Amino acid sequence: MKVLAISSSPSRGRNSDTMLDYFISGIKKVPGIEVEKVYLDDIHINYYKRQNSTGAEIEEEDFRKLTDKISKDISGLVISTPTYNFSVPAHLKNFIDRIRFIALDLKNTNKFDQPRGMLGHIKTYFLVSGGTPNWAEKILFFTFPAFWLRGVFLYFGAQVMGAFYSGDTNTFNNPKVLNKCYKKGMRYGRKLASHKGQGILENIFWRPPQTKN
Ligand SMILES: Cc1cc2nc3c(=O)[nH]c(=O)nc-3n(C[C@H](O)[C@H](O)[C@H](O)COP(=O)(O)O)c2cc1C
Repeated sequence: MKVLAISSSPSRGRNSDTMLDYFISGIKKVPGIEVEKVYLDDIHINYYKRQNSTGAEIEEEDFRKLTDKISKDISGLVISTPTYNFSVPAHLKNFIDRIRFIALDLKNTNKFDQPRGMLGHIKTYFLVSGGTPNWAEKILFFTFPAFWLRGVFLYFGAQVMGAFYSGDTNTFNNPKVLNKCYKKGMRYGRKLASHKGQGILENIFWRPPQTKN
């Protein structure tokens, strides 16, 4: 069983990156799961345009390898990200825009003309850091990346196993939060190993109608 862990903060060794490291240590406690960590900014990805909508371009060799891996090899995908202006860093947004060709089957649509999601073999988890305290993020959850990431990956047909937010800007130095990440990683790994599905909330999540183009 393989898990791909994507660290998308440009600030290595800081909050969301360290949350991911502890989450990975937790996953590794479960036998039989292999984890590969990548830094998203090591991978060259052009902006989306119609001309590159069906695959990676010649100069995007690492991106091609990554998308091959996501569509064929992995059963788990963990993404860690900071909150940037109520959203995610541009590189992560761009990555998500570009993986459309492995994520959506535009020729196969439902009665609302929505494309079918193609990432049904993947169980996702999101780790998010931010400068907003946890209590405020709980109230305004819909303006934070975990909510948006959940929606996108459910739209892509993936299973969403959960998300964890830390509002401490010194998370990388906060053993309590990091220990939580470790435990959540172990729980995620166990669910993966025992083929457990996503929760009720994710199962009833409404996929809004969206046109194919
Ligand atoms: C450009 C920029 C925009 C930010 N926007 C937000 C925001 O909208 N909401 C928030 O809670 N924190 C925001 N922050 C704070 C970061 O999310 C926070 O410092 C986070 O812990 C950084 O994570 P990292 O160390 O993993 O990069 C922003 C930080 C930067 C640099």
